Amino acid sequence: MKAQEIFQNYKEYIMPTYTKVPLIFVKGKGSWLWDIQHKVYLDFFPGWGVGSLGHCHPKVLAAVRDQVSKLIFIPNNYYHPSQAKLAKEIVYWSYPAKVFFCNSGAEANEGAIKLSRKFGEGRFEIITFENSFHGRTLAALAATGQRKYQEGFQPLPEGFKIVKFNDIKAVENALSEKTIAIMLELIQGEGGINLADKNFVLGLRRICDEKKMLLIVDEVQTGIGRTGKLFCYQHYGITPDIITLAKALGGGLPIAAMVVKKEIADTLGPGMHASTFGGSPLVCKAALAVLKAIQKEKLLKNTQEMGEYLFLKLNALKNKYKLIKEVRGLGLMAGVELNVEGKTIIEKCIEKGLLINCTQDKVLRLMPALNTTKKEIDKAIAILDSVLRSI
Ligand SMILES: Cc1ncc(COP(=O)(O)O)c(C=O)c1O
Repeated sequence: MKAQEIFQNYKEYIMPTYTKVPLIFVKGKGSWLWDIQHKVYLDFFPGWGVGSLGHCHPKVLAAVRDQVSKLIFIPNNYYHPSQAKLAKEIVYWSYPAKVFFCNSGAEANEGAIKLSRKFGEGRFEIITFENSFHGRTLAALAATGQRKYQEGFQPLPEGFKIVKFNDIKAVENALSEKTIAIMLELIQGEGGINLADKNFVLGLRRICDEKKMLLIVDEVQTGIGRTGKLFCYQHYGITPDIITLAKALGGGLPIAAMVVKKEIADTLGPGMHASTFGGSPLVCKAALAVLKAIQKEKLLKNTQEMGEYLFLKLNALKNKYKLIKEVRGLGLMAGVELNVEGKTIIEKCIEKGLLINCTQDKVLRLMPALNTTKKEIDKAIAILDSVLRSI
């Protein structure tokens, strides 16, 4: 199929739910992507957080190839070895817990919301935060603290109180006898790379302990090594009651998980929650390969080191260009807040072969693969530098 025909087919046959960039990709390897005209791009926002190992990591490929010829799918009323191994592995690297597997971040968050309500026995309210993003399904959307995503879809499920981020007083004021959980991203990704303060998070943990409420940490974007630890909560000296994972977990295959503290994990019993495709042999095998690669290739260390290097370079750009208001983030999750809209910058970067993202109109978002190198960072920075110079 030629490019024009592909665009035409999309126009005719695909629902127009995405703001699209007119690029057609046909091949990926590590941090690099090739388009249909053989032009090469450095991908510093691989898969909106999915591509933590970059594109087509050899360990993921090998695992998928091996599994696909043996057994692709088996429903959840039976057992298979990879789901057992993966759950054990996730629990080993997090906290004593049990895991529910599903397919997307929104679905994992829906699971957390349902579990909280069941656990609450009548208490059902969940406190969430302004500028948060938890997904597009109705309850996840109701939990999301950004009106623009909710417009036109009311009435949304009730039971969510959205309060100011990093404001413990606002949380205390929102508490009622019906509150059962607090749900947050420790770094708001779609919201503009906003970091939760340590004292704020300690305060949330204290409130949840005192009131016998659940602390749900949405690690859909921050999880699986993105911030230099396997899970972002590990920077904060707290243990959540639930974490939700998706995006990077499957190395490009669709898998998500809700990881629930052991004491409360049996709140959802047989028949109360399910997901047909959740945790199939194929995706679990891919996720096991991801976790193995992170350990074997010392990618957490690389994320910390390359993260430091990336922030050094971004801060140097900040000193050079008044256009940059602030640089913030952790590990390899970086936000560059501008004084102007970022759209033109993104377009010019694409022209020069660099893929990055812009969120909240003014925050450039860079989330390169965890195995990125100094050389790739230098190249990305050189392109960004030349684009900023031309603005
Ligand atoms: C923090 C967070 N939670 C949930 C989601 C929704 O994930 P999904 O698109 O897999 O449903 C996203 C997606 O960007 C996210 O960033």
